[in-house]
Amino acid sequence: MSTLLIRNAVVMTMNAEDEIFTGDVFIEGNRISQMGDKLEGLQADRIIDAGGKVLLPGFVQTHIHLCQTLFRGRADDLSLIDWLKERIWPFEAAHSEDSVYYSALLGIGELIRSGTTAILDMETVHYTESAFQAIKESGIRALSGKVMMDHGTEVPPALQEKTDRSLQESVDLLEKWHGAEGGRIQYAFCPRFVVSCTEELLTGVRDLSAKYGVMVHTHASENLSEIEMVEAERGMRNVVYLDHIGLAKPNLILAHSIWLDDEEKRIIRERGVKVTHCPGSNLKLASGIAEVPLLLEQGVAVGLGADGAPCNNNLDMFQEMRLTAYIQKVKHGPTVMNARTVLRLATIGGAKVLGLEDRIGSIEIGKLADLQLLDLEDFHVYPSFDADWYSRVVYAATRGDVDTVMIDGQIVMEGKIVKTVNKTVVLKEADRSLRKLIARL
Ligand code: GUN
Ligand code: FE
Repeated sequence: MSTLLIRNAVVMTMNAEDEIFTGDVFIEGNRISQMGDKLEGLQADRIIDAGGKVLLPGFVQTHIHLCQTLFRGRADDLSLIDWLKERIWPFEAAHSEDSVYYSALLGIGELIRSGTTAILDMETVHYTESAFQAIKESGIRALSGKVMMDHGTEVPPALQEKTDRSLQESVDLLEKWHGAEGGRIQYAFCPRFVVSCTEELLTGVRDLSAKYGVMVHTHASENLSEIEMVEAERGMRNVVYLDHIGLAKPNLILAHSIWLDDEEKRIIRERGVKVTHCPGSNLKLASGIAEVPLLLEQGVAVGLGADGAPCNNNLDMFQEMRLTAYIQKVKHGPTVMNARTVLRLATIGGAKVLGLEDRIGSIEIGKLADLQLLDLEDFHVYPSFDADWYSRVVYAATRGDVDTVMIDGQIVMEGKIVKTVNKTVVLKEADRSLRKLIARL
């Protein structure tokens, strides 16, 4: 088992007591085994002198579409339904094995470069195998699954699925990938949103996710037109409907959850449903502002996510953290969302959403080594004297400050160079596979 000693870091543990100390962290294999002000008498295969750098848990992004990274900048200035029908669905329908693979690697490269070590990812209808391959090779921790869509208008033929096939393909992928790479990779069922799913598909997902003990990841109540479409078709508000068919359970993760009435908030709270907040996407698609402070006050588990590249247009947790704080301040005043609360959402909060809070999300003995080192020796994050570390990281630091990233004990970035994703190759292949995809449109 390899060992690594990180010395002299400012360790922001994000544990229940929010402890911060300057000292050492010892990693054996993929786990944190010792930590303290000064660890003595240890033999380590590698020692990183982190003098002055900040050691943080890796960010956990609970809503990402790796398959959409290639579409960055090709669906700007639209609202959700037009964005999907005019651009994203036709693009997804033109994907190939090759383009899904490079779309995923491009996204993962960006995520690792900016300190994200774990994601909940929603793929497209086909070629999900390629995304899992990219996840495997890159070393990122991921829950992922093929998107499911067996219903709806203006869906390109290539994305229209038969209910049985959608369920069977999901199970086939699950059986191959859930628990792979020592548990670093997991499967999650991904019905796209109620608008594109029959009740038969959704109840199938309910039963199969219970049978296999996996998460269900969907979009819900992101947009006013979306919830009107659901209500017109199913005769109920969106989250009431999800509860009515028995999907509202602790393994359900809802992206967005902006347009909720009191009953829906009660359902989310009482059923233990999890929520992902995506402020960058919500602002750019003009979807609205989620009631995150209220959800948190009610004890709902909330994580943060950048969503896909074409609705953001970056996958940068530093941006999402700042937006999370800023948009609530405008609505509810400056004290409603402080830097510490936001950093918790970006780390241990996201881990709770994924059901992985026993394994990741904080720096504690026994937890997996999913970590990042920030180098804050720069103009834009100074002064450092008597610093509030939460303020420095959330309100001043940027993704360029991430120096080293470790996932499952493996160093995947060092000295600001991603080691597991070849940047030169991926940038070139992303352009090449996009050119071919556009030719197929
Ligand atoms: N709702 C249904 N599909 C999507 C998607 O791909 N992105 C977002 N943001 N919302 C959706
Ligand atoms: Fe999304």
